[in-house]
Parts: sequence; structure tokens; C-alpha cells
Amino acid sequence: MADHDINGPVSDTASLSIGEQRAVLPVLSGTLGPDVVDIRKLTAETGLFSYDPGYGETASCRSAITFIDGDKGVLLHRGYPIEQLATGASFIETAYLLVYGELPGREEYLRFQQDLKEQALLHEQIRNFFNGFRRDAHPMAILCGTVAALSAFYPEAVDISNEASRDLSTRRLIAKVPTIAAWAYKYTVGEPFVYPDNSLSFSESFLKMLFARPNAEYKVNPVLARAMDRILILHADHEQNASTSTVRLVGSTGANPFACVAAGIAALWGPAHGGANEAVLGMLAQIGTKENIPAFIEQVKNRESGVRLMGFGHRVYKNFDPRAKIMEQTYLEVVAELGLEQDPMFDLAAELERIAVNDPYFVQRRLYPNVDFYSGLILKAMGIPTSMFTVLFAVARTVGWISQWREMIEEPGQRIGRPRQLYVGQTERAFTPLDARG
Ligand code: CMC
Repeated sequence: MADHDINGPVSDTASLSIGEQRAVLPVLSGTLGPDVVDIRKLTAETGLFSYDPGYGETASCRSAITFIDGDKGVLLHRGYPIEQLATGASFIETAYLLVYGELPGREEYLRFQQDLKEQALLHEQIRNFFNGFRRDAHPMAILCGTVAALSAFYPEAVDISNEASRDLSTRRLIAKVPTIAAWAYKYTVGEPFVYPDNSLSFSESFLKMLFARPNAEYKVNPVLARAMDRILILHADHEQNASTSTVRLVGSTGANPFACVAAGIAALWGPAHGGANEAVLGMLAQIGTKENIPAFIEQVKNRESGVRLMGFGHRVYKNFDPRAKIMEQTYLEVVAELGLEQDPMFDLAAELERIAVNDPYFVQRRLYPNVDFYSGLILKAMGIPTSMFTVLFAVARTVGWISQWREMIEEPGQRIGRPRQLYVGQTERAFTPLDARG
């Protein structure tokens, strides 16, 4: 029978020999995925640290939230396949599942939904913040700053040891981030802010806050509302990615959840993380017309140019991105609903995809369209400007960030994150006073 450690069953041991020294390290098993070598006693036993820049080989935590198998194209949230959630659940149900670990019953669902509606309003003082930004401010800058500022409105959130306070902060974040996101957009286009509408669903109200104007009636298109809900579900969590790891690291210091999520937003802003769907649109604009596709594909295949086919390939998913399949279906629904089949931009995207998926260069390297290829196109079709793409990603990922933050805080023996380093600088040398330095 397997031995047991506080972190899970010890299924085996790994031994490491360094010269005469030998360290025996436990191997821990999870419920799915590869076992891990537990190196927590490595330094005590050998005086060595492990070296893993980028943490590609390192499990930084235990987690029961999301499981990914990149080779098989599997993405599970709390055990449920993403395909089933995206087609059967709403974003709010998915959020509840990620945060609390189980799908809500009807009563729990209604109460959670109502709570989020009540929390969606922003303190009126927050309106004043927006005027402090330039009109051309990037909406991610506005979002990041304003979410961090929420901690000034809810000082009780600083007490992260209080479970009720953690729960209230959770609901506040999930509910208020969409309002801040929509207002960041309205501010940059010079339109009046639209308040959340409690008669609508989460995604419907979000669309209304983005697109309604006081001088015209706004009717939510159900196909677009469903597409928005799916985009939010598909981006809600993706285990220990850069922004989630950032939230956990900041959270490990005991910082309040608004500050932690603001840090996650900052990490997401980087083009290597949240900016790929924006890059897809940039690439399509650069290609321009269908006639230019073959020359562009040649450029991609000719590595010297450094050009990549944006929206293709994935670090983890090597056969297919399960989110991309659902996104493609949603994309086709949106294009049909809006009658965009003949639009040159969407026609160009369809042709580019057709050529790439049949080209041996991409087939041999297992490069398939990823979630960002279609999400950028859907958002564009909905009339959302590219500068808002990463903001929408942040609205969805707030759920994952706060779920992971809660899990970390509730972990027994949780400690501050503090990696070590391989020092390659000067060895010790004597200080020379300025006058003696010449
Ligand atoms: N276009 C052309 N060639 C590519 C591409 C691409 N998009 N992606 C990978 N390759 C080639 C690469 O040149 C290499 O070729 P070779 O083996 O001959 O040297 C091979 O495929 C393997 O590439 P890699 O760089 O080892 O793959 P990676 O796992 O490090 O990169 C990636 C993953 C997503 C960074 C990369 O595929 C890429 O840059 N894609 C375009 C950007 C993009 O769409 N990013 C969004 C990803 S989804 C984000 C999310 O999960 O939220």
C-alpha cells in the first residue's frame, strides 16, 4: 500500500547521486497526470538547489481545480470536460464550480447569481477614477489600476484569514471586474457609462454595458450573448499559467485579493500571454487579401523572417486545443447570425485556416488553430475593438485567479513563495570610495 504524505500518496522514491552523496526523494502521485519528485528536502540533504528557469518542469503547488493533458487535448475543470461545460453550463455555473468545487444546485445557483447582480455596481467614487486617465489610455491599464484600487473601498478584504471576507471578495471581484472592463471601454470611446442591468444574465448585462447608448434602445442578441458566455467559460481557468502563478505568488505574501488579481491582470497584459488573439487580427490586417496568403505562408515557413502564424500551435496542446473546437463552432454561429460570410476579413481567415491545416509544414509540427485564432475573430465580429480583447480575457480569468488564490490560502502549511537562484555575478570584492575610482 502506498505510503502517505500530507501532500498525497507517496508512490515511489527517486534517488539522486551527486559524487559520493545520495539523496532519496519521495515521488508523489496525484489523481491524474504525471507523478512528481518531491524535492523539498533536496537542499537539506545535499546542499543543492534545483534549477528550472520558466518553471517548465516544476509543479509549484497542489491543485484540485483544473487538469490539462496536452497530448490528448483534455481540459477538465473540477473533473468536468470543458466541452460539456461550454455547451451545457453558463459562465456563472462554471464560476461557481471553479470557486466552490461542485456544480451548484438550483437554489445555490440562484443565490450566487443574485449575489453577483447585487455586487456588480461600483462605488460611485470609482467613477471619478476614470477621469484621471487619458482618453487614449489602454483599457488594460485602466482595469489593472482600478481593480487594485478596489482594496481601498473594501478594507475588510485585507483580513484574508476570515473565510466570510474571502468569500465576499470573491463575489465582488467576479461581479465588479466586468463593470470596470466595460467602463474602461466606454471611457476610451467617449461614451457614457452604462450601469449593470439586473434583469439580464451575466453575459447579457456585460454586452449591454459595452454597447448600449442612451439615445437608442439596446436589445441583446441571444446568439452574441451565448457566444460571450462561451468565450468567458473557455478562458475561465487554465491551471498554473503565468498570470495565475503571479496571483498565487503575490497571494502567498498575504496581500489582499484585489491586489493579487491586479497583479494577475498585469501579467496577462504581456503579449506572450493574453495578447495572442489581438495578434491574429494584426496578422490578418497585414496579409490584407487572399492573394497574399501563399506569400505569407512562405514567409512563416522561412524561419529567417521570424514570422509565425498567429493563432496556431500551443505549448501544451500538441494534438488539438479542446477550447478551439468549441470556439470554432461559436465563431461559425456568430458569423452566420451577423451575415458576415462574405466579409473579406472573415473570408480571408477561413482561407488562411484551410491552407494552413493542409500544409505539411503545419501538419508535421502538429500546429492547429488554437483558442485565440477564433476568439479574436468572434470578438471582432461582435464589434469589440482589439484593445479590449485582453480585457475580456481578464474578465473571464478573474474566476480562475480567485479560485486558485482561495485554494492556496486554504492549503495547510501555506508559505510565502520564495524561489532561489543560480548566482552568476561577481564574487566578493572590496568597495572603493568614489574619490578613489577615477
Ligand atoms: N507558426 C509557425 N511555426 C510555428 C508556430 C507558428 N504559430 N508555432 C510553432 N511553430 C514551429 C516552430 O518554429 C518549431 O519548428 P521546428 O521544430 O522546425 O523548429 C515547432 O513549430 C515547435 O515550436 P515551439 O516554438 O517549440 O513550440 P512552443 O510550444 O514553444 O510554442 C506557441 C507554442 C503557442 C508559443 C507557438 O506555437 C506560437 O508562437 N504560436 C503563435 C502564437 C499563438 O497563437 N499563441 C497563443 C497560444 S494559446 C494561448 C492560451 O493558451 O491561452
